[in-house]
Amino acid sequence: HATVFSMIQPTGCFHLGNYLGATRVWTDLCELKQPHQELIFGVADLHAITVPKPDGQMFRKFRHEAVASILAVGVDPEKASIIYQSAIPQHSELHWLLSTLASMGFLNRMTQWKSKSNIKQSGNGEYQVNDSDVGKVRLGLFSYPVLQAADILLYKSTHVPVGDDQSQHLELTRHLADKFNKTYKTNFFPKPITMLAQTKKVLSLGSPEKKMSKSDPNHDSAIFLNDEPKTIQKKIKKALTDSISDRFYYDPVQRPGVSNLINIVSGIQRKSIEDVVKDVSQFDNYKDFKDFVSEVIIEELRGPRTEFEKYINEPSYLHSVVESGMRKAKEKAAKNLDDIHKIMGF
Ligand code: TYM
Repeated sequence: HATVFSMIQPTGCFHLGNYLGATRVWTDLCELKQPHQELIFGVADLHAITVPKPDGQMFRKFRHEAVASILAVGVDPEKASIIYQSAIPQHSELHWLLSTLASMGFLNRMTQWKSKSNIKQSGNGEYQVNDSDVGKVRLGLFSYPVLQAADILLYKSTHVPVGDDQSQHLELTRHLADKFNKTYKTNFFPKPITMLAQTKKVLSLGSPEKKMSKSDPNHDSAIFLNDEPKTIQKKIKKALTDSISDRFYYDPVQRPGVSNLINIVSGIQRKSIEDVVKDVSQFDNYKDFKDFVSEVIIEELRGPRTEFEKYINEPSYLHSVVESGMRKAKEKAAKNLDDIHKIMGF
């Protein structure tokens, strides 16, 4: 029996990184689903408030849009349960139980709380943490990876399809599973496997030394699933490249911008980097190369964009999808937390 589990934060429309690194893989998994597999995909709304969301109405809209976006890329609610994290209280309860096993030292090594707290990085990318910075870090943000471990372990998940930036959190998840099993002399939790997509790290178009991100202040750095073709063209045109050569080859160190575009095309077309490099070797100028990349992205996102428009205008359908997904997931969550309580002696 395999349980595949993953979630995404409702922090606005999804971008190409979320799509190639995660949600398209969820769709593939639905298509390939075997009878012995269970698929659970969700909206991590409790995680989203680790960056405060004081506008409740806006937050509700984002939560809705997240469900519409998951369906828009083709995740099949008949095959996968789609859930809201906040609506299944066992996530938070297990977070507490696991937090009693999680060491500050392990959490301290995680990089996300540092990047989200504007902690300075030195030239080699190391975070320069000082006491006064740490004093301002909120507990929920620090504890974020423990909640993620709880999400995954609550369903005794065996496989977690995510992008590269989540690898660290998955390591902590396996560590906590192991720690629980050892502490309580049980083999209750399986060790979940990190499933990385072929395109596990899509980079920012404006600053290709960092990942494409929803929170990038430069909105032209990310391509969103509901971007109009014209917008996509404009963003690719502005994407930072180089002037090393008018021939296009893959070299992530010397040519991160060009290599990122090649990587995106390779992900979308499900072709190897080598094959894409062969295809783009016909171009001898940036305009033609970038027109080609735009065209590939526009074609790929046409479906999700129109599907998103359809789903976002069907709130009662969205509601029913989540309701039925949660019925199944809640049952499993309650049963597993019950077992955990028993093991621990509650
Ligand atoms: P989130 O919402 O930041 O991103 C959702 C998924 O998209 C992937 N991703 C990327 N992949 C490739 N290139 C990128 N530039 C890129 N940006 C984002 C992420 O790796 C992720 O798979 N902590 C998680 C949400 C979460 C979760 C979980 C995931 C909460 N609980 C349990 C798995 C299991 C997050 O913030 O994802």
